[in-house]
Amino acid sequence: MAFLPDLSVDIGGLKIKNPVITASGTFGYGNELTPFYDPSLLGAIIVKGLSLKPIPGNPPPRIAETPCGLLNAIGLANIGIKAFIEERLPSLVKIKAPIITNIYGHNIKEYAEIAKRIEKVDRIAAIEINISCPNVEEGGMAFGTDPDTAAKVTNQVVKNTTKPVIVKLTPNVTDITIIAKAVESAGAQAISVTNTIMGMAVDVTTRRPKLTNIIGGLSGPAIKPIALYLVHKVVANVRIPVIGLGGIMDYHDALEFLLVGARAIQVGTANLINPKAAMEIVNGLTDFCMREKIGNINEIIGSLKTK
Ligand SMILES: Cc1cc2nc3c(=O)[nH]c(=O)nc-3n(C[C@H](O)[C@H](O)[C@H](O)COP(=O)(O)O)c2cc1C
Repeated sequence: MAFLPDLSVDIGGLKIKNPVITASGTFGYGNELTPFYDPSLLGAIIVKGLSLKPIPGNPPPRIAETPCGLLNAIGLANIGIKAFIEERLPSLVKIKAPIITNIYGHNIKEYAEIAKRIEKVDRIAAIEINISCPNVEEGGMAFGTDPDTAAKVTNQVVKNTTKPVIVKLTPNVTDITIIAKAVESAGAQAISVTNTIMGMAVDVTTRRPKLTNIIGGLSGPAIKPIALYLVHKVVANVRIPVIGLGGIMDYHDALEFLLVGARAIQVGTANLINPKAAMEIVNGLTDFCMREKIGNINEIIGSLKTK
């Protein structure tokens, strides 16, 4: 009988069959990529960031390619939590992977209100709080750069749900561990590291910024070493599980994050280049464990040798 490794992991009470999760904003509302493969194969799916009311987002162009990366200033364009629950969630019945909603509020009250609405929906397995979006004028990253505010947002969401709460941090701070410890103390069950890194690009002919919003968030392979470093730092400073992301393109990249201690990983920009990227990472991790005779993925997590 073929040896099949156990890839399952536990993220703060959320048990998933493998550590591969799709990153918010790069996998639509959950089933857009079903023509390419069955997302049931994934550990979990995180959908586009949802707000209380629909948001049109920033005017285009809101995406610009950079060497080894992507700048985006989508501005959290989304259909709002009500339309997601009523119109999109029912069509996800066939998908057997847990659905995690990424949420965004203009103020702390809105975060709490969205959490309350999600609490009533069994199909949603967990909440990821976005306190790290660099492309919105109000709230967004402002919540994630101040430890007290980050803790207050976390606390309000935790109070209004029984589902695991994951807080997604911004890299755009001097010391990410201060924010990580603040949200852990406020009751977060897990932390995602990292959202995009602020950046910009200029068209020299038109002398205009390539994004209408002028600044955007950088993602993709360009940010992987920074993301890996931040995960390493956060893992050393909190006890709750850390989900690593930033520039993961293949299973090798995923393994790097697991080795530094990420309990699971998210695949973002890679989905936009290769729609099958996340599924291929699941297969790559399975094959790697089989080749290396690793029976359980937890043997890899945090096993980085530094001496
Ligand atoms: C087009 C686009 C839209 C995104 N939208 C969201 C979002 O709605 N909420 C969120 O928390 N992160 C959002 N992100 C950030 C990603 O989830 C991820 O944190 C970031 O891109 C780094 O990972 P990557 O390098 O694998 O893409 C978005 C990223 C991109 C490229």
